[in-house]
Amino acid sequence: MEVNLKNGQKRPIRERAREMDANDPLRSFREEFLIPQTPGGEEALYFCGNSLGLQSQGIRAAIERELNAWQRHGVLGHHRADPPWFSYHEQLAGPMAQIIGALPTETVVMNTLTVNLHLMLVSFYQPVPGRHKILVEYSCFPSDRYALESQIRFHGYDPADSLVVLEPAPGKVHISEEDISEAFRRHGNEIALVLVGSVNYYTGQAYPLKRMCELARNFGCNIGFDLAHGAGNLLLHLHDDGPDFAVWCGYKYLNGGPGTLAGCFVHDRHRENFQLPRFAGWWGHDKKRRFLMEPTLALIPGAEGWQLSNPPILPMACLLESLRLICQAGMPLIRAKNIALGNLLIEGLTSLGDERIEILTPTREDERGAQLSIRVSGLGRKVFDGLSLRGVVADWREPDVIRLAPVALYNRFEDIARLVEIIQELLHENR
Ligand SMILES: Cc1ncc(COP(=O)(O)O)c(C=O)c1O
Repeated sequence: MEVNLKNGQKRPIRERAREMDANDPLRSFREEFLIPQTPGGEEALYFCGNSLGLQSQGIRAAIERELNAWQRHGVLGHHRADPPWFSYHEQLAGPMAQIIGALPTETVVMNTLTVNLHLMLVSFYQPVPGRHKILVEYSCFPSDRYALESQIRFHGYDPADSLVVLEPAPGKVHISEEDISEAFRRHGNEIALVLVGSVNYYTGQAYPLKRMCELARNFGCNIGFDLAHGAGNLLLHLHDDGPDFAVWCGYKYLNGGPGTLAGCFVHDRHRENFQLPRFAGWWGHDKKRRFLMEPTLALIPGAEGWQLSNPPILPMACLLESLRLICQAGMPLIRAKNIALGNLLIEGLTSLGDERIEILTPTREDERGAQLSIRVSGLGRKVFDGLSLRGVVADWREPDVIRLAPVALYNRFEDIARLVEIIQELLHENR
């Protein structure tokens, strides 16, 4: 199988992939990960980092450390464990902030994504007559939509009037800058909140976050991001871009383990805004006074002030270990390799010259992350099942999309070459 290169030449895809692997500054990170196996005992070709990132070698030991501390100290581990559980979450703020381009005081790890979204909506969705609408991207993740609609109803409004969907132009799959500007022109003065995924979970399109923040500011709307598919994937600059809040999970590109704790960002300009409505709990109370058990809440300034409960240490230990690896590699190199892996996949798929394949994700580098969503006309499910039988772990999203997400820390360029060859075989078998 040969790929057509940008310079017009052709090269065997395997040869090109091996050369890219040899020059990859992140290649040694793969050894840090446990690659799932096929039923036949071979390494699977894993392209599901957008759904559940893989386990790194250090995670078992990180959990064991906390189990040992619990065994040794019991409740005294809150102060005697190393590091003490009382302030354990503070260790995650720095690396997490680095990954999303924020200040540590803007960043907290707590709860799960949808829970954090609700907490942020309590603070940043304050509908009033005349400004009660929420603008959300089309095909947003269903949980976001359920959360938004339930909040709209909670405030006594009707989603049919208050939820505005940012749609692409008729017949198009991607949302253009013009579509975004038009939505603000039409609804901007009535929008209380904009919620946008950084990368759409279905199409794989990455949105112009900075531009959306500018528009939201100009029209006086609050804006939040769902970074489930952005954190650990895109090069984010949350502090500079200036959304009011962001929420994301820790189990996709952050490799923190199934259902692990989630992140939450609240911009520094709200650090001391204690007037914002919020749902509170004792972990948001002044740390020095927490155990005085006072009835009056004294909120911690910054994102930490939104915490509710004392956090679960075991999943936090997993996430901390995995953030350590990500920060060691650094987001600029991770982002660059994600793009290079995607480029090879695009080159490979287009070189197949098969009109049944449609790449749904924009091919422009600034409009995508690690994920490529593809359709195979009339054959999607068959190709997906064929991939699964051949040891490829991808995912299927109804009605007809195969999502493939090669990621920098554990995928090789050679995995892409193998994937493209397998797709070629499947297309050939189904001529
Ligand atoms: C974009 C997006 N938002 C929200 C969620 C829901 O996350 P959680 O179940 O952790 O609340 C997901 C889960 O995959 C997602 O992909």
